[in-house]
Amino acid sequence: MLKTIPCGDVRATHAGQSVTLAGWVHRRRDHGGLIFIDLRDSRGLVQVVFNPELAPEAHRIAQSFRGEWVVQVEGVVRLRPTGTANPNLPTGETEVYATRASVLNQAKTPPFDVTQDAAVDEALRLRYRYLDLRRPQMARNIRLRHRIVKFIRDFLDERDFVEVETPILTKSTPEGARDYLVPSRLYAGNFYALPQSPQQLKQLLMVAGFDKYFQIARCFRDEATRADRQPEFTQLDLEMAFIDREDVLQIMEDLYSGMARAIAPDKRIPGRFPRLAYDDAMERYGSDKPDLRFGLELCDFTPILQQTGFQVFRGVIASGGAVKAIAAPGMAGVSRREADDLVNIAKGFGAGGLVTLGLAKEAPSIDALTAEHVRSSAGRALSLDEVKAMAKAAQAKPGDLLLLAAGKRDLVNNVLGRLRTHLGEKLGLADPNELAFCFILDFPMLEWNDEDKKWDAVHHPFTSPLDEHWDILESNPGAVKAKAYDLACNGSEIAGGSIRIHRGDLQARMFKQLGLSPETVQAQFGHLIEAFEYGAPPHGGFAGGIERLAVLFSEGATSIRDVMAFPKTQEAQDLLFGAPSPVTPAQLKELHIKVVDAP
Ligand code: AMO
Repeated sequence: MLKTIPCGDVRATHAGQSVTLAGWVHRRRDHGGLIFIDLRDSRGLVQVVFNPELAPEAHRIAQSFRGEWVVQVEGVVRLRPTGTANPNLPTGETEVYATRASVLNQAKTPPFDVTQDAAVDEALRLRYRYLDLRRPQMARNIRLRHRIVKFIRDFLDERDFVEVETPILTKSTPEGARDYLVPSRLYAGNFYALPQSPQQLKQLLMVAGFDKYFQIARCFRDEATRADRQPEFTQLDLEMAFIDREDVLQIMEDLYSGMARAIAPDKRIPGRFPRLAYDDAMERYGSDKPDLRFGLELCDFTPILQQTGFQVFRGVIASGGAVKAIAAPGMAGVSRREADDLVNIAKGFGAGGLVTLGLAKEAPSIDALTAEHVRSSAGRALSLDEVKAMAKAAQAKPGDLLLLAAGKRDLVNNVLGRLRTHLGEKLGLADPNELAFCFILDFPMLEWNDEDKKWDAVHHPFTSPLDEHWDILESNPGAVKAKAYDLACNGSEIAGGSIRIHRGDLQARMFKQLGLSPETVQAQFGHLIEAFEYGAPPHGGFAGGIERLAVLFSEGATSIRDVMAFPKTQEAQDLLFGAPSPVTPAQLKELHIKVVDAP
């Protein structure tokens, strides 16, 4: 070793000992004769003092040191003089008096300051990611990820799960995204697909008799970009045989609550994870991943407004739509502009409009509201009795602002759900020290794809419908609920899974309902259906995103890129390597590929 102790591990108990340190020059200060260097390695910082009288040669060399140079120092640990200890540093009671110094490597001046977490343009950070990772926050995030994965491995190993690796060069497993394809050199015109998840492989492992499997699995999805998505990400993938839904939920709850207690002990978590049916989550929170750290529930005004004189609402209700609202606490007094902003936000989410109803805080109570107390963007179209009834239904108080959306029920839920998230942030309603885990159950099995005029699987085609819903798979597909579940936390989807179809005949029936021809099924999934003919046990499992979890556990990560060592940009580019990039004509020829529309 080029060092006898890590910089960050020097303590008062080492006083008097000779040590050799090696690391990066974090900071250099010249104090009239004495030179002070903060020397940094992966364990932290220590102060090194160069005294021109005691060690003139070392002092001469230290004069040349610049930020981020890689240096080696020998010296003696001493207690810092009284009054100069630094309580903010674990090494702060000590300093190392240098006796010898050498430069292991010089460094160019970094394009940004790596010694602190100040804001830096993200493209620059990604271009120089190896420098960005030197910064304290990023270094902490990457270590946090390590602890998460280690916790998972230890936890599952103790419960007899076996980690099995599955191939990256494989055939498509549909998770609803486009595949990343890899051309085959040996088989002209043929392609491997990178797995969107190991879904089929883990099911095959159940057939193979590994009835408790897991994997820290890399997944690849070419899909519409979003802040919490990456083209390449990591899942905890898990599958069990001879279990039912309750067993999987139990493992998930034990795993995630145990992990939160071990890794983010300062955060509050629910004793038991609350469970919400998908339909209830959509009705109450307008989201299948609700942030339960605050209330602000959606309230249905449709029953109250059946006979309303307000023609817009009357028309919506007559055509089978809904009028729903949220009561924004204390916002009755917002300015015209702020109210317009909310309307525009709702329109941005797809709403036709938004009616705002301010309830003056001067009103003694909701019962005592008078017309003067109500400031409505719909003028006097809604009667005072209606306003009172709505305010009561929404448990609003004087001073609150009711925000009403009308239209098709799904759209209204969606708009208000997103508005709820917006207001939660704006009003600071969510406690940053809480992890509000919750399960969402009973998802719909199928959703209508209006573009392609066919039914798509909401989770994936291997998910089992509820037993009693097989009967209506063909006759009423929209009503079929699945044995599927998600784990949500603070508005983020952390994990999802299901009990699977384990019989070949039923799987074939599901494929048919999804509009896949027998030929397509045979070509795409023949291996799976065949495997099910050799004694497939009942099975189910889930997969959880590692990055999204790390963001929740971290202090300060704002996107999943902040918890990945080498992420891609939102536009799926690797700015460090410059990928994707053109390849040579010779490589293309070998792969039997001709690029026809390159720019
Ligand atoms: P699903 O597609 O829901 O399920 O993915 C599981 C979890 O992975 C995370 N995740 C992502 N994280 C970052 N970037 C992405 N592009 C991305 N996509 C998904 C989410 C999500 O909850 N085979 C099924 C699981 C199963 O049924 O067992 C699957 O992959 O946290």
